[in-house]
Amino acid sequence: MNLAGTLAEDMASEGDPTWLLRETGYELLRESTFETRFAISNGFLGVRGGLAAHLGACRAIPPRFYVAGLFDTPTPDSVVPELVPAPDWTQVSILLPDGPLMRCPDRSSRALTLDMRRGALVMEARQTCNAPLEVRLRSLRLVSLDARAIGMQVIELRIEGGVSDLAFEAGLGPTDFELAPERAELDLKAWRTWRSGRSLAIAAAASLEVDGVERQPVARGDLTWAWRWTAQPGQAVTFRRIVAVTRHHATDVNAGARARRELAAARTLGWRGILARHEAAWAERWRCSDIRVTGDPAAQAALRFAIFHLNGAANPDDPHVSVAARALTGDDYRGHVFWDTEIFLVPFYALTWPEAARTLLMYRFRTLDAAREKAARMGWRGALYAWESADTGAEVTPHQTVGPDRKILDILCGSQEQHISADVAYAVWQYWQANEDEAFLQEAGAEILLETARFWASRATGEADGLRHIRGVIGPDEYHERVDDNAFTNVMARWNIARGLDIAALLRERWPDTWERLARSLDLGEPELAKWGEAAETIATGRDPATGLYEQFAGFLALEAVDLNAFAERSVPMDVVLGRERTQRAQVIKQADVVALLALLPEAFPGTSGGINFDHYEPRCGHGSSLSRVMHGLAAARLGRPEAALGYFHRSAAIDLADTHVAIGGGIHIAALGGLWLMAIFGFAGLSLGANGLAFDPRLPASWHGLDFRIRWRGRELAVAIDGKNRELRVTLDRGDPMTVFAGGTAFVIAMDNPLVVRLPVDG
Ligand code: BGC
Repeated sequence: MNLAGTLAEDMASEGDPTWLLRETGYELLRESTFETRFAISNGFLGVRGGLAAHLGACRAIPPRFYVAGLFDTPTPDSVVPELVPAPDWTQVSILLPDGPLMRCPDRSSRALTLDMRRGALVMEARQTCNAPLEVRLRSLRLVSLDARAIGMQVIELRIEGGVSDLAFEAGLGPTDFELAPERAELDLKAWRTWRSGRSLAIAAAASLEVDGVERQPVARGDLTWAWRWTAQPGQAVTFRRIVAVTRHHATDVNAGARARRELAAARTLGWRGILARHEAAWAERWRCSDIRVTGDPAAQAALRFAIFHLNGAANPDDPHVSVAARALTGDDYRGHVFWDTEIFLVPFYALTWPEAARTLLMYRFRTLDAAREKAARMGWRGALYAWESADTGAEVTPHQTVGPDRKILDILCGSQEQHISADVAYAVWQYWQANEDEAFLQEAGAEILLETARFWASRATGEADGLRHIRGVIGPDEYHERVDDNAFTNVMARWNIARGLDIAALLRERWPDTWERLARSLDLGEPELAKWGEAAETIATGRDPATGLYEQFAGFLALEAVDLNAFAERSVPMDVVLGRERTQRAQVIKQADVVALLALLPEAFPGTSGGINFDHYEPRCGHGSSLSRVMHGLAAARLGRPEAALGYFHRSAAIDLADTHVAIGGGIHIAALGGLWLMAIFGFAGLSLGANGLAFDPRLPASWHGLDFRIRWRGRELAVAIDGKNRELRVTLDRGDPMTVFAGGTAFVIAMDNPLVVRLPVDG
């Protein structure tokens, strides 16, 4: 029995296309899109999909294999640290005496199948025409979710016609000089980064069988193998390779030993053992996080794709890294971490995979000193996180870029986009709400909340009007720079300070020793806390008390009004259409800003003011970021406008799944994928987290007949089923102590033998 065959046969019999993502055919110009869409990752290793090499075709971009945390400034021209690609371990060449085997493949036969349930990529292709050999090729690859150092590849050839000598060579791709070779042995290679003091080790084993009989390689070098034989009709050839990849400090003398140990453990398990454990790990992730939508197959497929990538992006075992804006699937944004993680991803992890959420927040705790240094350098107190963060937490936003008109532009986000500190605090608080992880709060969470609160209290300065102002920032809408009193920033700052005060009170009451330790180490006393209280009340919000409308920043409403409907057919962002200067002078918003505030802090929009703000800002938004529509969708769903929200859902899903977005070659848009989950759970299911329990206020779009999902809450596991047709909400406690659930504003206590079943209001 061979592995690739088994998998493909199983998949064919499975018959549920919602677990499979499939593309057939091959077009060079679309290859980088496929490479992104079919990327696989386990939070430590990431391999882009697409297998042009097997087809003997040119590659659109070099193959990419990423190792989380392998940051460096590899050349003197590198302005900021970037995730350097590691040598591609999937490389093979299959050669006839006069050139590549797949010289004239039947391109229409190339099929890529991402089996999301099993976390594996399968590629099939066939060569029939004008070639000495007629061949059917099938390959499988995975990076193990069970043992994250391990990658595995199987390539199967069926010789269907012709006789020819054939060579099968396997090795590693080049490193493009981004890594310095350190060590090369038959089963192991190691490199180090040029400047950042990291090293990388890869140990590998490979074998080739012809008709079930293992062949010895005719040549064997450092992680390279070559086999030669005469291929004949009917032959079945199976190549298998396992790699173990480890990342180290450059000084770690055990780098190679660890990779070898991981490889030995994997080899002991064997191919099927590795696959079985990997599948079991995926099965557990899907058990905790799958969402089932009935009535809207496209939404179902989009959620599966999103959840697949979300589960593949995090590594609960490594607090030295966080999830980058393109996860481990592409070069864009250089592997840097943004607010994307805390605002768009952490909610998913906090409620389905708390261990991963905790580790991501520990990354922010580990980088707290860098955030304190940034604040101090800029003249403030507390912690100002890096807008773009790599391994150390130092600010790594590049200072300049080339604009669409080829002019050099300054990037000011690294110094001015400061809401990141409140975003990190928001995620800490959400994780705390969802999991009541007291050890985390005392070890790390409280200090983050206090230091970010302290930053805002020092950042917002009192002025003659009796208010505190935050001047010279960039809000989520990055089209407008150096603005004063950005509503998103200021209201989040108020909220952050209030949570700092809450946590100080909680520590004092429940863990006075921890409070004393922290108060001493942070030099935080009553007089300072009193000032925070005053700051939380007096930071300007820009909210008009008469209408409830927030002004996005001071002066925004006086800017030129532009009718975005007139540009509905545009294929480029609004700042390209209007030019940078005019955009800056206009009421044209890059992405949800006040609307993002509405999505995150609905309590800051009492009465009808949520709708008023949404209706005001939605027509002014050009959605120049993939993060924008999901926030609009979330806010719309919460406002009770599920059909409008569904439009945002499908347009956001299209970013990575349809070929309408310009930038997919650079990697998946993990924040938008997290946003799809947010829309489904916080939006359509209407989940909100409170100190006293969970609340549901479901509002499904008409086409969604049902929505089923699971969440974890303070050590419990719940199954939630919303039946849109029969208008029923059912919440079942599958594990843990009784708890309170609110539905339609009424509190219910549920227990393992006592689910909540309520009728939903007809207009709900
Ligand atoms: C967006 C930011 C986002 C970044 C990375 C930018 O285009 O404006 O909000 O954090 O991309 O996804």
